[in-house]
Amino acid sequence: MKQSNKESKPLKVVNSYNEWDLLEEVIVGVIDGAMVPPWHVTLEATMPEKQWDFYRQNGGKPFPKERIEAAKRELDEFVHILEAEGVTVRRPEVREYSKPYSTPNWESQCGLYAAMPRDVIFVAGDEIIEAPMSWRSRHLEINGYRPLLKEYFHKGARWTSVPRPELSDELYNYNYKEPNGNGHINFVINEFEPTFDAADFIKCGKDIFYQKSHVTNNFGIDWLIRHLGDTFRFHEVKANDKSPMHIDATFMPLAPGKILVNPERILSLPDMFESWDVIYAPQPCMSEDHMLYMTSRWINMNLLMLDHQRVIVEKHEHAMINELKKFGLKPIPCQFQDFNSFGGSFHCATIDIRRRGELQSYF
Ligand code: ARG
Repeated sequence: MKQSNKESKPLKVVNSYNEWDLLEEVIVGVIDGAMVPPWHVTLEATMPEKQWDFYRQNGGKPFPKERIEAAKRELDEFVHILEAEGVTVRRPEVREYSKPYSTPNWESQCGLYAAMPRDVIFVAGDEIIEAPMSWRSRHLEINGYRPLLKEYFHKGARWTSVPRPELSDELYNYNYKEPNGNGHINFVINEFEPTFDAADFIKCGKDIFYQKSHVTNNFGIDWLIRHLGDTFRFHEVKANDKSPMHIDATFMPLAPGKILVNPERILSLPDMFESWDVIYAPQPCMSEDHMLYMTSRWINMNLLMLDHQRVIVEKHEHAMINELKKFGLKPIPCQFQDFNSFGGSFHCATIDIRRRGELQSYF
């Protein structure tokens, strides 16, 4: 289906207030050059336990070439689907992730990749905000997006970078231990300085939902609230997740009045969702032994809405496809399991730059 915007007035180049207005322009990540991040306590807190040895042994080396190639083929197909649906797709520049870099306080053996724009960039209306990421291996990740960000600035967007974190040892809780199941999470970062990943926040018009996580501290949350709080209302989402990092496999608003939630992590929703359809994500169809270096199988719920109905979903996730249809959505299947291995799905791999719609309140 091609979209036509002939009758409507031109929008600002950057314009995104929610997950569901008609998507006109999106950045899709690239997987080329992906490096295995060096082992660090921040990985112990967030990466699947069965991968810890992989990181200990391979940190600083490239990910296996054939896996990168397979993921790249899927990304290209995803881009074709988006373009065929009428969306303008932009890509970051591939940078050199294999070189070490340092500050006077620390050195990182390598970077990571530019595969997940959702983690690095937050878009609030016409403002692009560069996130203060807490992983040393992601400290320079924004650089590959800068050519696009400069272009958007020249075309009228607002462009902000949160104070660059120092990422000195003082930030990290080197005594971090896995939670013992009493519900209390001992986070791997403290309140030394503001940090957050953009993917810990998700927008529903005037209301922005967020989770505190192993990459997002209260200081970072307070920074963003003070920066955007005159226009937006912020609400914390409490999830039952012992290694929280990025809200979009936990809590995924899909359309006005429709939200997809993780049945294991979201035990109750705020009262404001009382009149909404709540879609509990079905168990993932992905096989238990599929290689996932960085996430749980719940990335089956990491979807991208193209408008109030069309939604990109992984083609093997039949249960999810059926569930979405039941709620009146139009799933567009796309193969993505090899990309999923690298830590995300369609939502993580994108950042919406322009959706056709204005700031509204949905509650
Ligand atoms: N931490 C989530 C899980 O393991 C995955 C979130 C991925 N999201 C992202 N924006 N990279 O289920």
